[in-house]
Amino acid sequence: MTVTVAHVGELHPGETKKFVFQCNGLELEGFVLNWAGQHHAYVNRCRHVPMSLDWVENQFFTEDGRFVQCATHGAYYLPDTGECVAGPPCGRRLHRIPLRVEGDRILGDCPASLPDD
Ligand code: FES
Repeated sequence: MTVTVAHVGELHPGETKKFVFQCNGLELEGFVLNWAGQHHAYVNRCRHVPMSLDWVENQFFTEDGRFVQCATHGAYYLPDTGECVAGPPCGRRLHRIPLRVEGDRILGDCPASLPDD
């Protein structure tokens, strides 16, 4: 199901926003981030243990803004690919939510792969 994840210009670099959407009858939480002016969105679920990445509500980036961090065991993910580069789920990727822009809205579609863990 397509969902509006943000409006164009809503998120500045380094900002994130959470949203809820449905795919194949599953209700999922996602988050969209602006990283260096590019938007990317992922399912808010770590690839180590299926837990939300943010302990503090909507805090996904590391302090230096270079990585998305899982608050539980500290895994680091690349913001632009979702690939884990440090921590227990190393080598795995966050489930990407494909984005497209329509008018002033940034829309998200169901991920190609849904969380199975
Ligand atoms: S649950 Fe995310 S690193 Fe363990």
